[in-house]
Amino acid sequence: MTTPWAIRTKNLTKLYRSRQGNHLAVQGLTLQVADGETVGFLGANGAGKTTTIKMLLNFIQPTSGQAWLYDVPCGEPRARQKVGYLPEQPYFPRFLTPRELLSAHATLAGVSPREAEHRIALALEMARADGFAHRPIGKLSKGMTQRVALAQALVGDPQLLILDEPASGLDPVSRVEMRNVLHALKEQGKTIFLSSHHLGEVELLCDRVAIIHQGRLLAFGTPEELVQQTDRYTLVAQQVSETLKRALRQIASHVRREGTQVVATIESMYLPEVLHRFARGEGQLMSLVRQRETLEEAFLRIVQNALPAAPLEKAA
Ligand SMILES: Nc1ncnc2c1ncn2[C@@H]1O[C@H](COP(=O)(O)OP(=O)(O)OP(=O)(O)O)[C@@H](O)[C@H]1O
Ligand SMILES: [Mg+2]
Repeated sequence: MTTPWAIRTKNLTKLYRSRQGNHLAVQGLTLQVADGETVGFLGANGAGKTTTIKMLLNFIQPTSGQAWLYDVPCGEPRARQKVGYLPEQPYFPRFLTPRELLSAHATLAGVSPREAEHRIALALEMARADGFAHRPIGKLSKGMTQRVALAQALVGDPQLLILDEPASGLDPVSRVEMRNVLHALKEQGKTIFLSSHHLGEVELLCDRVAIIHQGRLLAFGTPEELVQQTDRYTLVAQQVSETLKRALRQIASHVRREGTQVVATIESMYLPEVLHRFARGEGQLMSLVRQRETLEEAFLRIVQNALPAAPLEKAA
């Protein structure tokens, strides 16, 4: 038996119509996410990420095209049975405590009362929300509310997590904690589809990355497939002469000392001269590695090279 697709979309399109004008927010989006995969959904503000996610969850209907969750059309309520969702702007009743909220969600997810206690405790602990489980949600900070939103997404023990900017509003320590939680969920074999602006974290976490720009999918692949070689080389050297150190400080984009060693990143155009100096005995070259782009650099290149959007189609 083949592995099912957790998410599948075919030519998914959303045209928002309003008196102020129409806006084609998502255009012909076709992608597949395998069960057990972790996929990062990247795009600038307004690229169409939340609109896509809302169509997957049937909060809004596509103008055209189709989407399925585990082969069930997204329009059918049972498509959401295996899904935990963290919204972009979580809104919860202010007077409820996280525990009460999770209890309600567990009931909605069909968890038996006996199992609910265990699931709620586990979800609160995983999301690091157990420290304020009994405080009214209205009195929590943004980052705390975000953790409650994650706990709420986890409480039904869903196989597919759809997370719209899960790290939004989190401090750096909490962001790392969130990444660790997502790693743990990934280890458990869960499917994770998350939108994010934290490309460094996406690079560390995701099996594949989809880049959407002005509603169109520009790239979809592993981070290794998306990043290219750059024109930069990083060298590590020791016993570097003062003249070569001075030269490196002028030409290198980064240069630092690490103990007795010098680490410098230089453009390929400077390579012949620098190698020549090492050959002349101005230092001992220990390693020389061509740099690859970071995911952030690849993202910027892909988005900047994109053709301008097609003219907006007239609404019928
Ligand atoms: N209800 C709506 N009516 C009309 N236009 C909308 C509506 N919701 C979103 N849009 C527009 O659709 C486009 C895509 O919005 P969307 O919220 O999907 O972007 P996003 O990729 O999630 O951005 P962000 O990173 O800022 O969250 C934007 O231009 C937005 O203004
Ligand atoms: Mg959004």
